[in-house]
Amino acid sequence: MAIIALVSAKGSPGVTTTALACALTWHRRLVLAECDPSGGSVLAGYLGGTLDGPRGIGELAVGELRDGSLESAFWSQLVDLDAPRRERLLLPGVVDPAQAGSVTPLWHRFADFFLDLERGQPPYDVLVDCGRLQVAGPPWPILRAAAVVLLVTRAKLPDLSATRSMIRAVERDFTEHRVPPGTLRLLPIGDGHGRGEISKALRLPVIARLPEDPRTAQVLTLGGTVRAGRPLMRAAGALEVPIRALLDRRRARLAWPAAQGVPDAV
Ligand SMILES: Nc1ncnc2c1ncn2[C@@H]1O[C@H](COP(=O)(O)OP(=O)(O)OP(=O)(O)O)[C@@H](O)[C@H]1O
Ligand SMILES: [Mg+2]
Repeated sequence: MAIIALVSAKGSPGVTTTALACALTWHRRLVLAECDPSGGSVLAGYLGGTLDGPRGIGELAVGELRDGSLESAFWSQLVDLDAPRRERLLLPGVVDPAQAGSVTPLWHRFADFFLDLERGQPPYDVLVDCGRLQVAGPPWPILRAAAVVLLVTRAKLPDLSATRSMIRAVERDFTEHRVPPGTLRLLPIGDGHGRGEISKALRLPVIARLPEDPRTAQVLTLGGTVRAGRPLMRAAGALEVPIRALLDRRRARLAWPAAQGVPDAV
């Protein structure tokens, strides 16, 4: 399908938890890539630190800088979330913040590589946890390459205010880099303002709203058994539908013959 990026303005609204919930309920082959420069947390959290040796984007970056081995090493750096099917794979994020220095100069390279995964055989969607935009070295090239960028926010006023500033920063960057419009969507989490209010105040469509579900979130954060019937898992599973609809509309728009003019923006 495409690159789907998740990012937040500040605080910890639930980007990683949401990305993992989506990954565990996704219906197509998927790589969940932890590209948060401040560190990955799924290995040590949900997976309980069960791996023997370092694995993930930090190792890939070091290898790529050393001898250009990203392509050959990529698949060996993934963790199968659904073993042995290899349909839902995790690319763990950096563990040591010092590793972030190797990763951040390579965001362009990773963005290109992720784009190729959707054209591979078999194709993989790539769901990217981009962390917070306010940290040093955010993965801008991945956000620009993404077909959908989900701006994750809590639905309360202080978070919405920070998210509004982030939207302006992202829009400025996208205009400067000629990113086609229509990729940004809000993804509010938990109680607070209503969907319509949020969309109107932030002048951006809300793709869905995820429920406050501390029990499930705790399992996704610290490990345990995920129950498919829980509200967060059901909502995360349902999120794929509007994402796919958005992608289909974008694809149709990009394929529109120039001679027929440009249809309405999505
Ligand atoms: N839908 C939810 N309902 C209840 N609690 C949640 C939900 N999503 C996340 N949480 C909780 O909020 C906390 C932060 O979640 P998470 O680590 O996913 O945030 P984040 O945005 O990735 O943060 P950071 O920017 O620090 O990486 C965790 O304790 C998690 O369990
Ligand atoms: Mg996170």
